[in-house]
Amino acid sequence: MRPLTTRGGSRLFHVLLRRTSTSDRYIHHWPCTFSAADWISSRGFAVSVTSMASSPGMEEKRPQFGNRFLKDPSQVFQHNAWDNVQWSEEQEATARKKVLENSSQPISLEQQEEYENKASNFWDDFYTIHENRFFKDRQWLFTEFPELSPSGRSHPDSAECQRSVPDQEGQDVNNDYPGSSASYRILEVGCGVGNTVFPILQTNNDPGLFIYCCDFSSTAVELVKTNPQYNPSRCFAFVHDLSDENLQYPIPEDSLDVIVLIFVLSAILPSKMQDAISRLSRLLKPGGCILLRDYGRYDMAQLRFKKGRCLSENFYVRGDGTRVYFFTQDELGDMFNKAGLEKAQNIVDRRLQVNRGKQLTMYRVWIQCKYRKPCN
Ligand SMILES: C[S@@+](CC[C@H](N)C(=O)[O-])C[C@H]1O[C@@H](n2cnc3c(N)ncnc32)[C@H](O)[C@@H]1O
Repeated sequence: MRPLTTRGGSRLFHVLLRRTSTSDRYIHHWPCTFSAADWISSRGFAVSVTSMASSPGMEEKRPQFGNRFLKDPSQVFQHNAWDNVQWSEEQEATARKKVLENSSQPISLEQQEEYENKASNFWDDFYTIHENRFFKDRQWLFTEFPELSPSGRSHPDSAECQRSVPDQEGQDVNNDYPGSSASYRILEVGCGVGNTVFPILQTNNDPGLFIYCCDFSSTAVELVKTNPQYNPSRCFAFVHDLSDENLQYPIPEDSLDVIVLIFVLSAILPSKMQDAISRLSRLLKPGGCILLRDYGRYDMAQLRFKKGRCLSENFYVRGDGTRVYFFTQDELGDMFNKAGLEKAQNIVDRRLQVNRGKQLTMYRVWIQCKYRKPCN
């Protein structure tokens, strides 16, 4: 979804999302650097740039975000992006047809096995090529997921739950793990080179905070550990395969406040997703939550796949050997519910992005979920 252009030397972009589903409706926008937007964009991630300002002082002059709806289709190329795009039945049918077509020649089982067995190698190769060149701030995280900011720990549900957790005095409690003395613990799974972890470490100065992060790419984890911002007194990075049922996380059950999954669940074999989520759910404290953002069904990235890249229904392999699944809200909701979690949010984010130069329209679909572990 390139290109993102910069005008007048601007480095500050305003990125906007408006989301709706039957029950959730809200507006968000956030500032981020060009590099951050460009990187996220270049990976096919969830960003659209609607406007920009050359300095914070220009804020007042920018157009109002969050209410740019395409009422007159002939105006589509008037702006870079449109919010809360409703898909017509015809568009949905066309997307369904494209997916039927691009799924009609599934990859052989032998090759599928190879993609599964060598999954971490493909990601290692990815990080060997890209390293952490794209590593920039991701301050939008705190707008979308305030649970990651210092005020996040005061979420009324978690606070209520913590009060109701029985005193552990006299019980056999495992205190021999990194971050055991912390009072607020966050785990990011599939952390890549730390695009989420480092902004949290920078922004959240809560002395009780400890962050765990893992990825099955040892190359990515090494890049996290060698980053000058890596601070072992506040953070623990480790290699871990989310889909491996035989592996234990180095953290006891009922110990985490937040688990973050950003464009990672979609990278694993669909048949292994439920167990992976259930295992993670056990690590949450009562009141703790999983935050997820990932690809939605019929996202542009899914429709662009050519025949011969489909592994199984809605699951594809990219040219570099990395894989991607496209979710519906219900699939994710069912998975979290089966893992014993309760919905706090499950929204679909539909945006129409426009390349005005090339007169192209791009329909993006992302899903964002927050699911909470009930109090005992
Ligand atoms: C699309 S990238 C997202 C990276 C990061 N979450 C971000 O948003 O910058 C997917 C990440 O998931 C990791 N990953 C894929 N499958 C995994 C698995 N089975 N276990 C752990 N990490 C995995 C990849 O190595 C990669 O770093």
